[in-house]
Amino acid sequence: MWSAKTIIAIALITSPLWISFKAGAQTNADCLACHGEKGQSVRFSDKSTRSVYVDRNHIKQSVHAAQLECTDCHRDITPSTHPSEKAKNPKYKDARDFSIQQANTCQRCHYAYYTRMLDSIHFETMKAGERSAPVCTDCHGSHDIKKPGTPRKEINERCGQCHSDIAKTFGKSVHGELLAAGSDDAPVCTDCHGAHSIIDPRKPGFKASSHQLCAKCHGDEKKMATYGLNTAVLSSYLDDFHGSSNLLFTKTTQASKSAIATCVDCHGTHDIQRFRGGETLSKDQMRERIVKTCRKCHEKVPAAFADAWLSHYPPTFKSAPLVWGVKWLYRIMIPLIMLGLVSHIILHLWRIKTGKFWRHL
Ligand code: HEC
Ligand code: HEC
Ligand code: HEC
Ligand code: HEC
Ligand code: HEC
Ligand code: HEC
Ligand code: HEC
Ligand code: HEC
Ligand code: HEC
Repeated sequence: MWSAKTIIAIALITSPLWISFKAGAQTNADCLACHGEKGQSVRFSDKSTRSVYVDRNHIKQSVHAAQLECTDCHRDITPSTHPSEKAKNPKYKDARDFSIQQANTCQRCHYAYYTRMLDSIHFETMKAGERSAPVCTDCHGSHDIKKPGTPRKEINERCGQCHSDIAKTFGKSVHGELLAAGSDDAPVCTDCHGAHSIIDPRKPGFKASSHQLCAKCHGDEKKMATYGLNTAVLSSYLDDFHGSSNLLFTKTTQASKSAIATCVDCHGTHDIQRFRGGETLSKDQMRERIVKTCRKCHEKVPAAFADAWLSHYPPTFKSAPLVWGVKWLYRIMIPLIMLGLVSHIILHLWRIKTGKFWRHL
């Protein structure tokens, strides 16, 4: 029998003839006759090379396997344009140029995703000439495309190829640890940033409205019940001075320059930890830890500063008896006063109706 090498040698020697024979009927198998074997490479203008080996298993397992032929994506490959091994390839400056140009093929069929990218920071960066910004294939692959997010943590790994510091920090956070454990409840990069229409987080408004990102999960009773976490964190934040001044600012000026405290100012962004970690802290240690957070903005406040703050919890008889008491006093007094007012008016009307009113004039 002939060895694989002999087959390739024959295929290569006869390739111009062979390809023209196959013109018009180029199936995956035709292309893989050469590309399914290792050892060939394409050469770019800068003289660097890249293997043109295509793994059949990747093609088979790709989401496109059942529907696309090689030439549905490689539309420029025809017998007359297919590069020969000897020819230098003037179409591509270097390997990155090859990738960027090849990725343009995706938009023909997935135009909606392409248009979503047009306003993104990644697209803007690429347009400005920074070629390290991602194109479709940097996040999805080319021959081995899977349904993204299977498993979910793979999304963070993809973003982490380039944003490695953030991905590493995130991995050590309370969210990252949950994600690594395989949970679908933990946030991934795209939950907060989106995938295609990623904007620059330094743009005005992003941080100010970031509590809405947290609220997607931390306001969800069902999700949080699994972890025994309080969902009053959002409402208490919004009721509180920090949240209300945030709302006021976003409603009026859009871009506030002043330091409005959002969730991430107190908790961190990619490095969120539990306030009370595995260790059991004394009341004083806990207070010190909290006040350290406040001092980022309320400089030089004493350790007791945080005691005046009700944190995320509605006041209870135990946690804040005075506030609790005043709140209940209002709750009882206000309806009583209203009741008095209304009965006063009703009594007057009754007197008018019965004519008793006139007798008083
Ligand atoms: C006779 C063997 C042979 C066949 C058949 C063949 N190729 Fe190639 N292909 C090569 C070789 C060798 C190279 C590297 C040559 C070069 O670019 O200098 C190459 C390069 C490529 C490249 C990278 C360079 C570029 O310009 O894009 C792509 C993509 C490619 N082939 C796709 C295909 C597709 C799709 C088919 C089927 C329609 C196919 N090839 C059929 C041998 C073959
Ligand atoms: C879904 C579209 C798509 C299909 C289908 C597809 N390719 Fe590709 N191919 C690409 C893209 C995009 C690149 C550039 C990849 C990169 O930048 O890393 C590429 C790169 C290549 C290369 C360059 C070397 C490499 O492996 O990256 C070759 C050769 C190639 N394809 C051949 C084929 C052959 C043969 C088939 C069919 C069996 C095929 N392609 C099917 C989109 C596709
Ligand atoms: C010739 C048309 C065509 C081209 C070119 C093409 N795709 Fe697709 N793509 C499809 C079709 C058809 C499906 C299958 C849709 C389905 O099953 O719902 C698909 C599915 C996908 C999916 C999975 C969607 C899902 O719902 O799970 C992703 C991701 C994807 N393509 C990315 C790409 C990328 C990246 C490229 C460029 C390298 C590309 N496609 C090029 C036609 C194309
Ligand atoms: C920065 C990384 C990144 C880039 C660049 C990117 N995508 Fe995506 N894409 C994702 C992620 C992550 C998802 C998963 C869905 C989500 O989280 O929104 C996705 C989802 C998709 C889907 C739907 C799959 C599904 O299961 O719903 C398609 C189709 C797709 N992308 C095509 C493209 C095309 C075409 C391009 C280029 C124009 C592109 N993507 C660029 C990361 C990216
Ligand atoms: C191929 C590399 C690459 C991949 C993959 C990638 N990015 Fe980026 N990203 C960049 C580059 C380059 C910039 C431009 C700004 C810079 O120089 O850091 C950028 C900018 C950003 C910014 C704006 C903030 C800033 O530092 O400028 C955000 C947010 C972002 N990326 C999120 C993501 C997310 C989320 C994913 C995954 C879905 C992802 N990126 C995948 C390369 C990448
Ligand atoms: C829970 C929501 C959330 C998740 C998950 C998240 N981010 Fe962010 N990210 C933010 C917020 C909010 C900001 C803006 C922080 C600020 O302005 O202080 C930000 C800022 C950024 C920035 C720009 C500023 C910087 O720190 O360099 C980049 C880049 C970024 N994120 C990438 C990522 C990547 C990559 C992942 C996944 C590993 C990720 N983010 C996961 C919410 C999130
Ligand atoms: C996709 C859902 C999701 C999003 C979005 C999200 N979280 Fe979480 N978060 C969780 C889950 C689930 C846990 C429980 C983790 C555990 O206990 O293992 C958690 C835990 C926490 C904890 C630790 C609570 C404790 O003491 O045990 C804090 C603090 C926290 N998140 C803050 C935030 C902030 C701030 C944001 C927004 C920037 C945010 N989260 C966005 C799902 C989310
Ligand atoms: C002013 C600072 C501050 C802001 C703003 C803030 N938090 Fe907190 N948060 C804390 C402190 C301090 C604790 C821990 C002490 C405590 O439990 O009283 C805490 C506790 C938590 C917990 C754990 C709750 C539990 O059941 O144990 C979660 C979850 C949380 N915060 C999420 C959020 C989210 C989401 C936002 C925005 C909507 C937010 N926080 C805004 C300071 C803040
Ligand atoms: C990112 C900055 C920032 C952080 C962190 C922060 N605050 Fe504030 N805080 C503010 C701003 C700005 C105001 C003024 C809001 C207003 O005027 O409506 C304020 C107002 C207050 C007030 C109302 C009284 C006053 O001084 O105006 C209290 C009490 C308070 N914060 C407590 C805390 C506590 C307790 C913490 C820590 C758990 C904390 N803050 C963390 C920015 C911050």
